[in-house]
Amino acid sequence: MRLRTLRDLPVQGRRVLLRADFNVPLQDGHVADDTRIRATLPTIQWLRDQGARVIACSHLGRPKGKVDERLRLAPVAERLSQLLGVSVRYAHDIVGPEAHALARELGDGDVGLLENLRFDPREEQNDPEFAAELAALADCYVNDAFGAAHRAHASVVGVAQRLPSAAGFLLEREVTALSRVLEANDHPFVVVLGGAKISDKIGVIKQLLQRADAILLGGGMANTFLKAAGYQVGRSLVEDDHLDTASSLREQAAARGVQLLLPRDVVVAPSLDDSAHRAVVSVDAVPADAAIFDIGPETVAAFAAVIQPAALVVWNGPLGVYENPAFREGTRGVAQAIAACQGYTVVGGGDSAAALQELGLADSVDHLSTGGGATLEFLEGKQLPGIQVLMEHDA
Ligand code: 3PG
Repeated sequence: MRLRTLRDLPVQGRRVLLRADFNVPLQDGHVADDTRIRATLPTIQWLRDQGARVIACSHLGRPKGKVDERLRLAPVAERLSQLLGVSVRYAHDIVGPEAHALARELGDGDVGLLENLRFDPREEQNDPEFAAELAALADCYVNDAFGAAHRAHASVVGVAQRLPSAAGFLLEREVTALSRVLEANDHPFVVVLGGAKISDKIGVIKQLLQRADAILLGGGMANTFLKAAGYQVGRSLVEDDHLDTASSLREQAAARGVQLLLPRDVVVAPSLDDSAHRAVVSVDAVPADAAIFDIGPETVAAFAAVIQPAALVVWNGPLGVYENPAFREGTRGVAQAIAACQGYTVVGGGDSAAALQELGLADSVDHLSTGGGATLEFLEGKQLPGIQVLMEHDA
């Protein structure tokens, strides 16, 4: 099986429907973080250089099939125009008269953008008529929306089945980097997982246990592991219904000879708002009236020592409550260790990617995934519908 890529698709003078993931944060009517837009620029630029007429489309937020004025794509069109240095024509509908006029009037190398796909309820239903209406706007289809590849929606799956189609450079890069993690032959292979909940990461841990040499756990999810291991965790966030899951994952790690490291010391406070009373304590001395909000410096040093010689590192999820500056040091320390590692480093989506950007370390890792849920599902070993539909059986 092989992913069809841009190099397989003749696009000169043709109208190309480009599915992008421009689901970006907005603030005061402007794009607040343009990482996902920038990530698609190589594909757009290549299409323009080939003389294609690019009709870009994306979802933004979750408007549930209705027009929501706050979720129009106008700010994206504005930012994309700035980044490309050319005017991007914006249609205020998806498959209506403006979209058709845009598709008809774009010249070779021009770029247009359709309205938020999720304003139409048929998008999320993968409705065949909607897919056909989208397909009627173009001659061929390119998917660069890795972040939406786990959604079997009309613009992700239905259109790809109706037009000559291929993956864009971003989608291709994501598949290459994340496949390397799944098929890891590089050792030592170190997995760093954080985030609030163990329930979000069970599938990833199970999958990566099969190849990893070490799994380092922090964030809220580590509390459940600590409690399952017999530690008192005070008022910390714990998923009591997953204590058995935590014990079982620990046993599976031990049986496979995978080092599973939990925090040794932690940053505690009476509450998230009371950071003035925060303290670093050993994991066996968490006060009954306090909660864990970050990993401590000893843990950061221990994790960094495992990360430093790694040949392959994958990281997903902050190690503490990163949005609060008082509980940011653990994530910062681990991010720095990963950035300094000489091995192949992959940072998977969402909050950890945002943290890395903010720390100015985004360029120091080999691959920064643009996906959130898509990255996790890929790392769980699931087949993503948006990728499956672009696979070609070997002759
Ligand atoms: C994301 O932000 O992870 C993607 O754009 C998918 O968005 P969704 O979870 O609303 O489908």
